[in-house]
Formats: sequence, structure tokens, C-alpha cells
Amino acid sequence: MSDVTIELHRRKGDYGIDGDFEKISAGWVLTGVAAILVALVVATVWTLAAGLLITGVIIGVLTLAFMFFQGTYLWTTLIGKFRVWARILGNLRLRGDEQVLDLGCGRGALLLTVAQLLPRGRAVGIDLWTADQSGNSPEATLRNADLEGVADRIELHTGDITTRLPFADNTFDLILSSLVVHNIPSAEGRRAAIDEAVRVLRPGGRIVIADLLHTARYATRLQELGLTDIHRRNLGPHMWWGSPLLATRLVTATKPT
Ligand SMILES: C[S@@+](CC[C@H](N)C(=O)[O-])C[C@H]1O[C@@H](n2cnc3c(N)ncnc32)[C@H](O)[C@@H]1O
Repeated sequence: MSDVTIELHRRKGDYGIDGDFEKISAGWVLTGVAAILVALVVATVWTLAAGLLITGVIIGVLTLAFMFFQGTYLWTTLIGKFRVWARILGNLRLRGDEQVLDLGCGRGALLLTVAQLLPRGRAVGIDLWTADQSGNSPEATLRNADLEGVADRIELHTGDITTRLPFADNTFDLILSSLVVHNIPSAEGRRAAIDEAVRVLRPGGRIVIADLLHTARYATRLQELGLTDIHRRNLGPHMWWGSPLLATRLVTATKPT
């Protein structure tokens, strides 16, 4: 089956930048990156102009590697992840009346995209609003929902996905999560998050998790819990976090009826 890329209206919201901004704010991180880049470029030009060819080439290569790392990271967080999720959601061929849960919705990059596909459904997001995304808060997500015109289709909850979710068993047709579960520090916590997701997924429902790390473990746990049709794949360069070594993988599975 060929990929389906859904037509989404132009994004109007502000979805921040993904990263760990607990100790250093996103503004300072960007300032630091810009300063390092300027220093590397100046050092390259200066060493080459001084006739230090080998040193100049080495610093030049480091400069290009640094630019590649930062460029792919920014591309992924600002553009790539939206494009990739548009294709993933298109391939799910939703009817439009589903109940969907986004685990760790943050400022709504995925939640508000899927909400556009649910004219008769509901998109529920749950998050702890940690500094794993710049400007993360329920207010920011609600503001984005207003801007995207989907505020009437979404619901936000504040909660930890490693503890019991505030939803009954078998509630959701689809459970999504993007770049969240690896933030949970312990293997037990990550397993609890998968277990809870499966509890609130209705029989026949699908679970779709994108993440940087531990995805083989998520797939194994889903299999242990009896889910079927389990697949795991690399989402490619649009979701590289600076390098192919930090690629995002997608795990999908279906809960048996
Ligand atoms: C990198 S952001 C990704 C947000 C969103 N899924 C996206 O793709 O834009 C990770 C999100 O996971 C949330 N998060 C991390 N650990 C969590 C937990 N234990 N329970 C709920 N949310 C959590 C953070 O607050 C943050 O919003």
C-alpha cells in the first residue's frame, strides 16, 4: 500500500522546540549553539588564512558536522516530525469519529494534528508539562488548539503516564505517543506506561508510538500483553535528532478483539 499524506491546513500554532530545558532554557541553548557556530567558522577561516591547511581542514570538517547536527535537529523538531506524523496519520485512514489519546501531548504537535481528522470524534491529551519541550504548558496547548480551530474537539489532562490513567478500561480507538516514553527514567516506569496504554485501548484499537530509544522493548512488551500485528520501523531522516544514530522509530500494534 502506498503512503498517504493527509492535507492539513497551514500550522498556525507555536509548538516550541523539543529538548531538555530543565537547567538551561531553550533561548540560552540556541544562543550557545549560535556562539559555538560563529567561533568554529571564524577559527576555520583564520587557520586557513594563516596557511595552517591541515588544522583548517579539521576545524572546517568539525564545523560542517556541527552544522549538520544542529540543522537536522532543528528540521526534525520544527518541520520533520509534523510531516512524518501527517503521513502516519493518513495511513491510519481514520473514520473521523474515533476517541484518540495522545500520551505526553506537550504543546499539541500530534494532538492537534489528529484532532483535525476527528470532526465527530475526540482527541484527549495527557501530560506532566515538563521542560522536555520549550514553553510547555496546558495554556500553550489550549492556545494552539484555538489557533488551529480544534478547541471543541480536544480535552487536556494533567497526569503522569506511568501511573493509573484517569480513563476506564477499553476507552480509546487509537493511542498515540510521540517522543515521550524515553523520558521516563526507569524501565519499570516505561513498562507501566505501555501497560496503562493497553488497558485503556479498546479491543480492535491501535497503538502507535514514536520514540528515540527503547522501542524494541516497547514492541516486546506489547507482544507479551497479547497485542497483534506488531511492527517497528525507522522513520527516516525527517526524524533524525542530529544524526542517523539518533533516529526515531515507530512501533505499531493492534489489541485483539
Ligand atoms: C519531547 S516532548 C514531546 C511532546 C509531543 N508529544 C510532541 O511530539 O510535540 C515530551 C513530552 O512528554 C511529557 N512527559 C514526559 N514524561 C511524562 C510522564 N511521565 N507523564 C506525562 N507526560 C510526560 C513532557 O512533559 C513533554 O510534554
